Amino acid sequence: MSEATLERLRSLAMARGIPIVSQSCARFLEQMVKLSRIDVLVEAGSAIGYSALRVALHTPDLKIVGYEKQAKLAEEATLHAGQFKVADRVRFVAQPAESAALPLPEGPIGGLFIDAAKASYLNIFETFEPYLAPGAFVLADNASFKGLDPERAAPRHRRLIERMQQFNERLLARPGYDVARYDIGDGLLLAIKVED
Ligand SMILES: C[S@@+](CC[C@H](N)C(=O)[O-])C[C@H]1O[C@@H](n2cnc3c(N)ncnc32)[C@H](O)[C@@H]1O
Repeated sequence: MSEATLERLRSLAMARGIPIVSQSCARFLEQMVKLSRIDVLVEAGSAIGYSALRVALHTPDLKIVGYEKQAKLAEEATLHAGQFKVADRVRFVAQPAESAALPLPEGPIGGLFIDAAKASYLNIFETFEPYLAPGAFVLADNASFKGLDPERAAPRHRRLIERMQQFNERLLARPGYDVARYDIGDGLLLAIKVED
């Protein structure tokens, strides 16, 4: 499966107005996966599978479980996993990530990538947190949504900004995690589980 095929999947998503991960966030995620040599990655918010399949393509033995709450998108993502010939190690689940059946048969979770509805980030983290392996990482995209400044944002965004602020504060204050924020794209939050 070539880079060109991956690029076609990206163009397909963009042409349909399906939001997908930025190139810089995708590279960050790929490097985190390689550096930490994890076996299992969970993605919360998979859309048609672009980011998960991109990571799968770059990491031959990695198992990925992607949650996508829109059934039609999850179906498409599954179709794409077949086309990419990774269906034996990448599966998409058509349900909100925060209602996942855990523990996963794939084993302890080495990485959790959150790219879902902004109001759900904290719930998603708390759902998977007990199943994270020691040393696991959590990477959250859009963690600095609208500069986390409700005063300067449109009224329709204020509640989401507050929820994202709450997610940031809770993670930064969480014992047992080494947390940093990066000014990449709409902001990345990286939390590493340093204690079991
Ligand atoms: C930004 S898109 C994901 C893009 C994907 N990560 C990529 O880069 O190819 C966000 C997706 O998350 C889904 N979503 C939103 N909240 C969710 C949740 N709680 N659990 C699972 N999926 C969710 C939306 O339906 C949407 O398709």
